[in-house]
Order: sequence, then C-alpha cells, then structure tokens
Amino acid sequence: MITYTPEDAAEVMAALIAQPAVTRVNFTGSASAGRTVAELAGRHTRVVLELDGKASLLVLADADLDASVETACVAALLPQGRIGTSSERIIVDRSIAAEFSVRPAERAAILVAGDPRDPEAQIGPLIDAVAADHLTPNTKSGSRRTGPVRPRVSRESGAVEIPLPQQQHLRSNASMTHDGPADHVEQNRRFWDDEAAAWHGPLARDHWAQVEPSWGLWATPESQVSVLPDGIDGMRTIELGCGTAYVSAWLARAGAHPVGIDLSEKQLATARAMQAEFGIDFPLVLGNAEKVPYEDNTFGLAISEYGASLWCDPYQWIPEAARLLVPGGRLVFSRYSPLFALCVPSEGPASTTLSRSQFGLTRLDWGNHVEFVLPHGEMLRLLRACDFVVEDLIEIQAPQHARNYEEVLADWAQQWPSEEIWKARLAG
Ligand SMILES: C[S@@+](CC[C@H](N)C(=O)[O-])C[C@H]1O[C@@H](n2cnc3c(N)ncnc32)[C@H](O)[C@@H]1O
Repeated sequence: MITYTPEDAAEVMAALIAQPAVTRVNFTGSASAGRTVAELAGRHTRVVLELDGKASLLVLADADLDASVETACVAALLPQGRIGTSSERIIVDRSIAAEFSVRPAERAAILVAGDPRDPEAQIGPLIDAVAADHLTPNTKSGSRRTGPVRPRVSRESGAVEIPLPQQQHLRSNASMTHDGPADHVEQNRRFWDDEAAAWHGPLARDHWAQVEPSWGLWATPESQVSVLPDGIDGMRTIELGCGTAYVSAWLARAGAHPVGIDLSEKQLATARAMQAEFGIDFPLVLGNAEKVPYEDNTFGLAISEYGASLWCDPYQWIPEAARLLVPGGRLVFSRYSPLFALCVPSEGPASTTLSRSQFGLTRLDWGNHVEFVLPHGEMLRLLRACDFVVEDLIEIQAPQHARNYEEVLADWAQQWPSEEIWKARLAG
C-alpha cells in the first residue's frame, strides 16, 4: 500500500503507472482524475476506468446527525456518482439506525434538480441521455421515495446498512416531516401543564376506579381487543406518557410492577393523588418519554395510550421503547389513526374532506402543541427497523350510541376508524 498527500497525487500516480512491472491499471474515482490516469496509462499499459466511488460512509453513534445526513446526501447524490468519494452505502451504528433509515431519503427528496445555470438548482444534468431516459418514466409517474428505506442488518457484526435512495428526487413539500423544529417537548410540556391537565385531572378518578380496562375515546373493553399480553403478573412495565397513570394502576392490579413517565408535573400530581386515594403505589417519573432514565432491557411491556404514541416523535420514542424492553418484550400503543389526521381540519371535528396530504404527514403543529401521526407504511418500517415484529393493528370502530367529541363525532367514527391500537413484540 502506498499512501500520499493530495498535493503529491499526480507525481505518485505518474511514477506508479510508469513502473515496468505494472501491466494493467484499474482506477476508481472522478472523471477528471480518470482522464489523467487514462492519458498516462495509455502510454505504458492497459487501463480500466470506473468513474465512480465505492466508499462506504460510516456513521458512528456519537456523530452529529444533521451533519451526517447532509454529508450522506452530498457524497451520494450531488456528484451523481462521478467522484471517488461517492458513497454507495451508509453503515450506521444500530442506536441511530431508525432515524438514519429515513432522514437521508427525506433530505434527498427536497434537493432541487434543474438547469445548472439556475442558481436554485442543486443537482445538475445527468451524465448522458441514457441516464435521462432511465429517469423520465419515474418522474412522469410522480415517483417520490421520501419514506424510510429498509435497513439491512448484518448478522455477524450487528452493523446496520442503509441502502441509499436513487437519484430520482425532485422538489417536494417537506413542511410536515419529522424534520421540524425539535421544540415539541417544551411546547407540549407547557400545553399540558398550563392547559390540558386542568380538564384531564377530573377524569382520572373514574378511570382509576374501573375494574375492567377499556381503551381510547370509545372505551373499547379489554375483552374485545386484548391489549394486555399474557403473563402480566410479576412483569415490569413502563407507561410512556402516563398522564394520570390509570393504565399503570390497572396493570398494578393485574400484578405487574409498573413505572409511569410523563413530562407534565400537573398530570403527575393528579396521578399521585389517585395513588393515595386508591392505595396503589408505583414509581412516577417526571421526564421525557423519548429519553427514559432506565437501563436497557428492563421492562417486559411498554405501553402508551395516547401518550408518547401521540405526543412524542416516533423516531425517538419507538427506538427508546425498543431499548427499554427485554428481548421478546411487548409494545402496545393506541393513537389517532392516520385517516383521522388527514380528515381533521384546523378547527372542528373530522370531516369527509381530506384536509392535508398524507405524504410527509408525521408532525401536526397545532399552534400551542404538537402531535405526531406517522402513516401506516412508515410506522411499519420504523417498528421493523427497531427489531419489532408487528402482531396486530386494530382499527377501532365507535360503538352505537357513543358520545361525540370536539375532534370527532361518533357518526364519523362508526364509519371510519378514528383510532387504532398497535401490538408489537421485540424480536429475540
Ligand atoms: C392524553 S394523555 C395520555 C395519558 C393517559 N392515557 C391519560 O389519558 O391521562 C397525554 C400525556 O402525554 C404526556 N406527554 C406529552 N409529551 C410527552 C413526552 N415527551 N414525554 C412524556 N410524556 C409526554 C402529557 O403530559 C400527557 O400527560
């Protein structure tokens, strides 16, 4: 192996190629360097040029993710494969795999393709007409791969390899992706402490008093949906975004050892008052369900009823749930359905008109709080990327004579699912 500095590259290359022992030169790199190599090698020997790069981009656990996403896109897409540092694959640490399986594709989706003389254009022309012909059918049919790409996990090393998106991305609307400002935690904490806890608190007693658990807006009985896995007795459980913690109370009554985490001091104050009133005690942690202060492999069940499942960034809280669970542990959560999120206007109940587009749907900014509703395909890929096996997705139908809510009328939810329950098992 011969190493050299960039300044010496031309001289070293010329000396090597001129060696009488060299009978063939294989070169991988940029078009400009390739031209020089071809010229030199043409005088002495045979040459094979591969005007491309083969380098893998390695992203370690403590990398700056924003910078890495940017680098991945530049390395893979901007030179359009005609440079030695072009990356064909990204190998990332398992702990950031879920996020990294999505963000480069989304970043790539908003690169602007166009005439290189246009100052707005970020990707110039393709290398030749054949490449353009190859691209045309995809752009004509509106192909847009903004969602996560499926990571491949190496069995031997555990490294996660993320295939790069193709260079087929035109400008898209990215305003509702999970790339939005990361201020949702603080916004939601204020919303719950200053507004929502006050109307939520008085509902707690009835929930705590329930003998049979029931779930969501339509109080779907446990006997109908079997949210709780077998073997709850003695199981350590964590409720992510527990609010007034009645779900954990039900789990405690079933013999589990629950922990509840919530970022609202006021919600937890109600939960503590209920603990005293009902004589059920378990740890209540004030904190963010995207970063839970417990060790890996601690819990047999992670559960969220409209908690982290609605209020946390799915690309944060779902990998976190996977981290907290023992192999084979269960994740169950309920949330609004993506259909509901598409049909609910900025004011009033869900209607029969689509209010927003599904592509890019992840984060809903409501002015004073932020919710997250990932569409089904992306949720499925995210869960799988975090090593979950999805066991069920139950779309809930409102029962006859159900009450109306401000955001959804019973009549609507009798025709379409306004909420859904996911059940998944961590592999292993
Ligand atoms: C609708 S409640 C759901 C909890 C419970 N099922 C209930 O109804 O009381 C939503 C809860 O999520 C909590 N929350 C929002 N963002 C959170 C975060 N980042 N981490 C932990 N809890 C969060 C809120 O404080 C609120 O108590």
